[in-house]
Amino acid sequence: MKNKIRFGVIGCSGMALRHMEGVKQYENATLVAYCDLDDGRLAAAGELYPDAKAFKDYKEMLKEGLDALIVVSPDQLHREMCVEALNLGMHVLCEKPLALTEEDAKAIMDAANASDKKFMVGQICRYTPSFVKAKELVDAGRIGELTFVESEYAHDYGHIYEDPLRGNWRKDPLRNGVVGGGCHAIDLLRWIAGDVIEVCGISNKKYYPELPYDDTHVAVMKFENGVIGKVFVSVAVKRNGTLRSVFYGTKGTIITDNSSESITFFYTDDEGKLQTESVPVDVNSHNAVAEVAEFCDIIDNEKEVLTTALEGYKTVKTAVSIVKSADMGGVPVKL
Ligand SMILES: NC(=O)c1ccc[n+]([C@@H]2O[C@H](COP(=O)([O-])OP(=O)(O)OC[C@H]3O[C@@H](n4cnc5c(N)ncnc54)[C@H](O)[C@@H]3O)[C@@H](O)[C@H]2O)c1
Repeated sequence: MKNKIRFGVIGCSGMALRHMEGVKQYENATLVAYCDLDDGRLAAAGELYPDAKAFKDYKEMLKEGLDALIVVSPDQLHREMCVEALNLGMHVLCEKPLALTEEDAKAIMDAANASDKKFMVGQICRYTPSFVKAKELVDAGRIGELTFVESEYAHDYGHIYEDPLRGNWRKDPLRNGVVGGGCHAIDLLRWIAGDVIEVCGISNKKYYPELPYDDTHVAVMKFENGVIGKVFVSVAVKRNGTLRSVFYGTKGTIITDNSSESITFFYTDDEGKLQTESVPVDVNSHNAVAEVAEFCDIIDNEKEVLTTALEGYKTVKTAVSIVKSADMGGVPVKL
């Protein structure tokens, strides 16, 4: 029988607890340690995982003989934590975005490439049931050849900005909405349509003037395969959060988001007629349990990582390029 994969998790936020739940649900894994600077969050994790050891200093936790680490810390810390754990010989699953700059993302990618352990970036839309179904339909050719794809990350971070624990690191200019949250929509489009070669962004700031970055962006993009796309990102809009996405192809269209119980699927039947179907899907927009299960399976069964550091790097580069373009007033930026 294989030894259980011994996990540590950095961060004890709600998102981190979802990852811990993923570890708990995987038969061949066990949570041995968790870490946070905040006493309240440490105590809450302790109630759920009384057999695991609590740490305030992640460097001390990394001495616990862990096999694998999940990094759910502020984005600014991903580089130092991931590189250190990889250098110490651990498998690492890092939350999105891989990093806030191309330079930091590349440093993580270099450390991952130099390691014989598994490194995966947690782009959770790749586990959201509606997007998984959409990808399956696109890959099966059900909407023909892709023509235009769009996605949006529409949120309101107002209450988060007011919380010093959660808000301060999100006010860093490098942690603008496009790189920090928009990376979900950008990665989804890259997953569906492939690599982006050029972007053109515009932006404004009408909701939160005190922010050091524009709160609302829109960008058009060209993909390597000739597909064109659009992404809308706002950390301020007055509505419920959504990742509404539409994928257009020569024979059909898929309309989906992460909070509806069905996706709308238009397709051309054998007689050439356009048909519509409502395809039921589970709603699970933070499916860390599936993400962690895949990571454990990759470790356990020596499988290839799909959401590699390179994937994370390309998503960061696309996001950073959109902001760069918008900051120059919409000048196109080639990747
Ligand atoms: N996949 C998703 O949908 C999703 C959702 C939310 C957040 N995230 C990502 O998860 C990460 C964490 O975000 P969050 O919402 O949990 O943030 P958060 O601000 O709620 O929690 C971050 C935690 O990290 C702790 N922390 C800060 N510095 C630390 C250090 N040096 N050592 C140990 N702990 C430290 C803080 O005390 C805090 O409890 C970010 O990368 C974020 O982008 C992803």
